[in-house]
Amino acid sequence: MNIITFDSEAKLNEAAARIITGIVQTNPSAVLGLATGGTPVGIYKQLVHDYNEGLVSFKKVTTFNLDEYVGLAPDHHQSYSYYMRENLFNHVDVDASRTNIPSGLASDLVEECSRYDQLIQAAGRIDIQLLGLGHNGHIGFNEPEEELSSGTHVVELAEETKQANARFFSEGEQVPSQAITMGVGTILKAKTLLLVVKGKDKAEIVKRALTGPITTDVPASLLQTHPQLTVLVDQAAGSLL
Ligand code: GLP
Repeated sequence: MNIITFDSEAKLNEAAARIITGIVQTNPSAVLGLATGGTPVGIYKQLVHDYNEGLVSFKKVTTFNLDEYVGLAPDHHQSYSYYMRENLFNHVDVDASRTNIPSGLASDLVEECSRYDQLIQAAGRIDIQLLGLGHNGHIGFNEPEEELSSGTHVVELAEETKQANARFFSEGEQVPSQAITMGVGTILKAKTLLLVVKGKDKAEIVKRALTGPITTDVPASLLQTHPQLTVLVDQAAGSLL
């Protein structure tokens, strides 16, 4: 595991973007695993900047997002599909037909999960999976449980997760109670994992995830088993490491 601490958010975002662009420069057809939430917004800004500077092209990449809320249409302002278009896809040369996000509107959610797994399998290995960290140690939407699922599956969101994400929703809007998420098994199959954690409020959980026991109570602790894990933290998030 390689943990790198940054004294500014800008430097952290640049470093994360440099890792991703490096992979795409080496392999223009790379398969990118993407994440949402507040943490990667600055990284996507930097990727757009790198694209505008002519440093990287996303024309041939395939992307798979970690998760999507159940019940939100792709044009809902809080769907992860909308988020990805707003923050990255609309601003670079990615081929929309090669961007993949589970559909939260599928009439048969179990079928949608297996369709998503098949797509990931058909694309081969995910070259790099970008990850944020939930306050309760979740990755994607893999919440703390006695057992974790390997493949894509439907989850009931923890109350804590709904509260944490309520900040993105308009007043009076309900945070969905379910989501579809890539499983921990699929995440761990990625060639390289890039975990990015920012802020004092994540210091305790990032410590538990990276230095505590490997337990399904802290899904991110399973990342310790991955041979190619890079963790980028700001000073506040890394203060207890
Ligand atoms: C969200 C997402 C995760 C994300 C995490 C942290 O609910 N499903 O993929 O990494 O929670 O989000 P944030 O970066 O906003 O703290």
